[in-house]
Amino acid sequence: MSALTTAAPGVPVVELDLAELRRDPYPAYAELRRTAPLAWVPSIGRHLLTRYEDIVRAEKLPEVFSSREQGSLLLRTVGPNMLREDDPDHRRLRAAAEPPTRPRQVRDLWAAAFERTAHELLDRIEGRGEAALIADFAEPLAAANLALVLGLHNASADDIADWSRAMMAGNGNYADDPDVWLRAEQATRAIEEAVAGRAEAVRREPDGSVISSMVHAADPVEVAEIQNNIKFIIGGGVNEPRDVFGVGAWTLLQRPEALERVLKDPASWKRAFEETARWISPIGMYPRQLTQDHEIAGVTLPAGSRVALVIASGNRDESVFERADEFDLDRPHRPHLAFGGGPHFCMGAWVARHEVSTIAWPLVFSRLKGLRLVEGAADRLDGWVFRGLTSLHVTWQTH
Ligand code: HEM
Repeated sequence: MSALTTAAPGVPVVELDLAELRRDPYPAYAELRRTAPLAWVPSIGRHLLTRYEDIVRAEKLPEVFSSREQGSLLLRTVGPNMLREDDPDHRRLRAAAEPPTRPRQVRDLWAAAFERTAHELLDRIEGRGEAALIADFAEPLAAANLALVLGLHNASADDIADWSRAMMAGNGNYADDPDVWLRAEQATRAIEEAVAGRAEAVRREPDGSVISSMVHAADPVEVAEIQNNIKFIIGGGVNEPRDVFGVGAWTLLQRPEALERVLKDPASWKRAFEETARWISPIGMYPRQLTQDHEIAGVTLPAGSRVALVIASGNRDESVFERADEFDLDRPHRPHLAFGGGPHFCMGAWVARHEVSTIAWPLVFSRLKGLRLVEGAADRLDGWVFRGLTSLHVTWQTH
């Protein structure tokens, strides 16, 4: 079924300014939820689905809302991968890759090394009294942790961070910039080489990593499939933990009462993680394509329709989250959508939760005494497909 690149009949057409959406997408999403919960947005070339309940319904019907979107930039950047596959192929790849990312494995195999790396990065900056926490801490930490979990011992944290940026730029290259494609291709080749080397090594000597798990999967996986999946995981596996770390730290530094709460009661770091991911979701939306005609949000969409599940909007839906625009550590528990839902629910959720809420935030706030934001720094939120801080300038006492 080929992708339909126009509005389905009877669907409201809403023009959205992409620059404004990058700056702050939430007012536009609130308006869409209220007036056009399914809307065709020409500048995005997709139907946007913005209410919580509709997104959850779509995620429960993966055979209708297929992940095999045609013309996807992710496919062009990394090739076929589990995120853009449906079952049974998706299930085969996911089952092969997933074991090292389960909660017990995170605790037993990776947690101690995550903590060591966080300490090492803090050792480098602690005496300085000021830092750009995204560049100096969150990104290298996420990259080093990801290298470990994936089993890319032949790549440095800097390599992983560079490759991640190149993959993310390719995935978002709606402007078709040739330089972006060139950098993505160079990164692609470097990742393929690194994965091939490690696949060969773990065939003889398994090491508990994702590559090792895929090489030894009961249901066989080709090396090319491992390479493509590692490429897209490198994209998101650095970006999203880095962003949730940055947004959460920035938010707490502006809310002394909430910060005091988590400092007094370390168990609430976990709540801070979930609330940060709900409030400013690192991934704002992802695509699906209809395999058959289907009615949703009061409209029948024809087979081939392209739909964006706008989870950042679902996470601000007032019918589910009271005072949804506020960051509130005490809000009653309702599952948020930041990790997606259905069969593609984020495979790295436990890795991200652990590295940010159990290790990174508690260590940063305990080791950097009197941590505060640098006044007048140009740190700001940016993005709607992916959203995070552009930078995070902080200062602290050194004596
Ligand atoms: C706060 C951090 C993170 C957030 C918010 C996040 C969010 C998401 C979302 C929304 C999806 C579903 C996308 C879709 O259905 O199209 C997803 C899938 C995925 N994520 Fe994450 N992610 C995070 C961290 C990570 C990390 C650290 C890793 C790797 C260790 C990872 C690996 C994956 C994989 C492999 C999938 C595809 C799962 C599948 O197709 O079955 N993620 N993530």
